Amino acid sequence: MQRPATGPTPIVPLPHPAPHGVPHPGGPPPMPGPPAPAPPPPPYQSQIIPQFQAPAPPYPAPHPPSPAGTGAIAGPPPPPGSSSRTGTLPSVQAVTPVTGPVAPVPAPAGATGQYPMTGPPRITVQYPKVGTTLTSSRGSYIVRDVIGSGEFGAVYDCIGPFDQVYALKMVRPANRPYSEVQAEWAREVQRLFSLRHPNVVYIYDSFEQGHLYYLALERCDHALKEMLGTPMQEGLIIEMTRQLLAAVQFLHDNDVVHDDLHAGNVLITHNDRPTVKISDFGISHELRGMPAIRPNVVHHAIMAPEILATGYTSKQSDLYQVGLLLYWMLTGEPAIQMDVPYQELVRQVAEGEPRKRAESVGTPLGNLIAKMLRRREAFRYTSAREVWADLRELPAWRQRHLFPVK
Ligand SMILES: Nc1ncnc2c1ncn2[C@@H]1O[C@H](COP(=O)(O)OP(=O)(O)O)[C@@H](O)[C@H]1O
Ligand SMILES: [Mg+2]
Repeated sequence: MQRPATGPTPIVPLPHPAPHGVPHPGGPPPMPGPPAPAPPPPPYQSQIIPQFQAPAPPYPAPHPPSPAGTGAIAGPPPPPGSSSRTGTLPSVQAVTPVTGPVAPVPAPAGATGQYPMTGPPRITVQYPKVGTTLTSSRGSYIVRDVIGSGEFGAVYDCIGPFDQVYALKMVRPANRPYSEVQAEWAREVQRLFSLRHPNVVYIYDSFEQGHLYYLALERCDHALKEMLGTPMQEGLIIEMTRQLLAAVQFLHDNDVVHDDLHAGNVLITHNDRPTVKISDFGISHELRGMPAIRPNVVHHAIMAPEILATGYTSKQSDLYQVGLLLYWMLTGEPAIQMDVPYQELVRQVAEGEPRKRAESVGTPLGNLIAKMLRRREAFRYTSAREVWADLRELPAWRQRHLFPVK
């Protein structure tokens, strides 16, 4: 899976393990005051790491060698049985710049796209627009609206088989070879069909039409990012985190690391209560018995310290990303400033700003989040299950008559 390069932003390795107990300069940052309308968060950015070691079949991830002079991650993968939590990950050299911010993607309705020329024939594709009918072996889907437009996918609201509403996700070519797009789609389809859980988005159907690849998903109401910007009630946060952790534990029990748990990939459906659904397995990985994997795409704003220090992510990195989400829900603000130059972002991660911010909240929930955001994996929670064991002891959960669990 090769994502398009758009500009140079190096990943700089951090000292690891990083020293702890560094006093927070200037004391704790002020807590947000009364809820105020927050500006929309800046778009997520991604970093592509060249020469990713492709996993064994059946998940082919073809990656051309990086161009001369661009550098690559060095060092072999961790030996089976070694633990990422005990600091046995091999150290790696700096990842040299390959890409930078991904430009906002315009809504694709009705537009055309192209796969790059890798030899004739060149394939031009026509994106669906409102009113387009797409057909699979299970029936027809009529496009009603564009509901989401990520970097590598476009999501349409559709009426499909049995007059049910679906979210139809199209994998955008994004200047990648046809075979690569097909492989990414097949990988996501396979993951979603095999990871059935009440808190993982449900896949109904998958098909190809006009050289474009689609996934028919259950239609959720919106992404978690729509709810961020003002502090949320602790009871609601814990209830949503409970569901999120249940899904993360399920993925980890199945040896899958999601690696992309940002607020655009956590979907919410409101029935009598919010139901949380993890989605977008586009860059998820199977560990295949290894303690950690080397992702080929990293979203800057949710980089765990170990990705900077070692180039690897593990189940621990998913828990770190959940910690970032928790902080944002609790305070209404991201734990990492995202509208800053990449080097500043790296500094914040290196100096443990997210943990310091969480500690400065000064509440039991703030301290719990701080533990999830520790720089060294060994000092964080070992599993989603363990996070929940602490969360459920908090007063806001003990008084959960406000949010009774059925
Ligand atoms: N099943 C769904 N129901 C409702 N909205 C969805 C659904 N799937 C995706 N979306 C919307 O589309 C956006 C992009 O979808 P996503 O699967 O994350 O694609 P990408 O790979 O481009 O990030 C999400 O952030 C969300 O706003
Ligand atoms: Mg996404």
